[in-house]
Amino acid sequence: MILGVNVDHVATVREARKTFEPDPVMAATLAILGGADGITIHLREDRRHAKDRDLRLLREVVQCELNLEMAATKEMTRIALDVKPDMVTLVPEKRQELTTEGGLSLAGQRKNLKDTIKRIQDAGIPVSLFINPPIMDVDISKEVGADMVEIHTGLYANAKGKKQEKELHRVMEAVKVANKLGLLANAGHGLNYFNVKNIASIEGVRGLYIGHSIIARAVLVGIERAVREMKGLIEKS
Ligand code: PXP
Repeated sequence: MILGVNVDHVATVREARKTFEPDPVMAATLAILGGADGITIHLREDRRHAKDRDLRLLREVVQCELNLEMAATKEMTRIALDVKPDMVTLVPEKRQELTTEGGLSLAGQRKNLKDTIKRIQDAGIPVSLFINPPIMDVDISKEVGADMVEIHTGLYANAKGKKQEKELHRVMEAVKVANKLGLLANAGHGLNYFNVKNIASIEGVRGLYIGHSIIARAVLVGIERAVREMKGLIEKS
């Protein structure tokens, strides 16, 4: 099973100061050294975290799977065709949201999705759709021509006890149906060091896409060394 690491969260910290650090491209190279099989970046319409420059540099640096998350718009399709990531994941996008809050609303935008998917696939780039677990959404993903789906695990991640078991079951069913229809099945959103095991052990899942919890942990496991290095500089001055 592959692990794709989402480095938007590093760009979010950078943009808090609108400076040059931390650089998501440097974070990507370290994530790959740590064993990441792929790097994900979400270029939002408002460029609130990742920038075009990040995507272009990542394309040069990342030799494993570069996954571009994007809205199904003309502007983003043009960028994808130009930069040529290894795969595209189409996601819904709302300006006000803190992060992608749910899967795509597929029913109302079949034609736009079909056209966008075909344009990207014609350039040799496989397309995944970020969808909620209901089976109907898996069926529509097949109908509009996607190669893959990424099942939204947010509800599973946020639930507890019996409710979490129920959400896990819905993800499992979605994966099973996707595979049966010939779609590759990924999963992601809200996965962390406590809840990942159940999802990682679902048969038929191709890969997991994880961002926040990995970057959050990196901050904590890295603070001690970062302070020691600054202290060393000060003491040597
Ligand atoms: N998959 C998709 C489509 C996403 O939009 C995100 C959020 O950036 C993730 C996976 C990763 O979610 P998280 O940051 O909660 O791990």
